[in-house]
Amino acid sequence: MESGYVRAAGKSEIVLGKMKKVTLDGKEVLIVNVNGYYYAVGSECTHFGGDLSEGVLEGNVVTCPNHKAKFDVTSGKVVSPPAEALSRPDIEDLPTYLVKIDNQDIMVKV
Ligand code: FES
Repeated sequence: MESGYVRAAGKSEIVLGKMKKVTLDGKEVLIVNVNGYYYAVGSECTHFGGDLSEGVLEGNVVTCPNHKAKFDVTSGKVVSPPAEALSRPDIEDLPTYLVKIDNQDIMVKV
């Protein structure tokens, strides 16, 4: 295994269409299973810090529970900002992390 990867979870912990927040090296990371592929993005909404692990996942898009911003978990890109212009209408993309599977473990490079 290439260096820099740490174990985030077991594959069986995050079944198809589910997500889980883990803390890796002090960073809160959201691990998501989309169609059997695993992705890792920052779990904190870049608008006002909503916990995306408490949001709704539909396909590859997670919706923030606070003001409904949407992010593509496969790329971290903002799909839809909040409807209202708050103090930061230009929500930034989420950080993304490389993922590898090692046997039954999901490994993430942080
Ligand atoms: S905190 Fe996520 S949309 Fe506002």
